[in-house]
Amino acid sequence: MQQIYTNFQYWAYRDRAILMTSNGHGALIIDFITELDDALLWSLSVDPEFRDLGLGTALLEEAEYLCRGRAVKRIVLDWDERNSEKWVLHWYKRLGFTELQSNPYGVTLTKCL
Ligand SMILES: CC(C)(COP(=O)(O)OP(=O)(O)OC[C@H]1O[C@@H](n2cnc3c(N)ncnc32)[C@H](O)[C@@H]1OP(=O)(O)O)[C@@H](O)C(=O)NCCC(=O)NCCS
Repeated sequence: MQQIYTNFQYWAYRDRAILMTSNGHGALIIDFITELDDALLWSLSVDPEFRDLGLGTALLEEAEYLCRGRAVKRIVLDWDERNSEKWVLHWYKRLGFTELQSNPYGVTLTKCL
């Protein structure tokens, strides 16, 4: 895989944060569930012409870094087969996520920090 280096832009308001690659081609949203020490990651997406260049991995790594900084103990995300390919589920597992439960459209995954 060819890789491109990226910096990030980060906006946070109360318990929600938006993380975007500085080139604007990838983003995700983090909801901090502070009473549970959890963070919910959602809406991870990279522009089709910029995929397989490491941006998705960089976004998840940066999200983990930000979560650690906010004392998050556990990250949770959903893999949804209606809008995400099967290899994405395998990729999450390679990154250390494990299945928490299945849901009607896919799987809820978690990773302890
Ligand atoms: C999922 C997504 C965010 C990944 O972003 P990305 O920038 O392409 O990811 P990366 O370049 O960091 O690649 C991640 C891994 O997947 C692999 N990969 C990338 N594209 C792939 C493809 N089409 N088929 C199989 N594997 C692929 C990479 O080789 C890499 O593997 P590695 O970790 O073993 O090195 C992006 O494909 C996307 O936006 N998909 C549509 C929306 C989506 O499914 N979002 C997830 C919601 S649950």
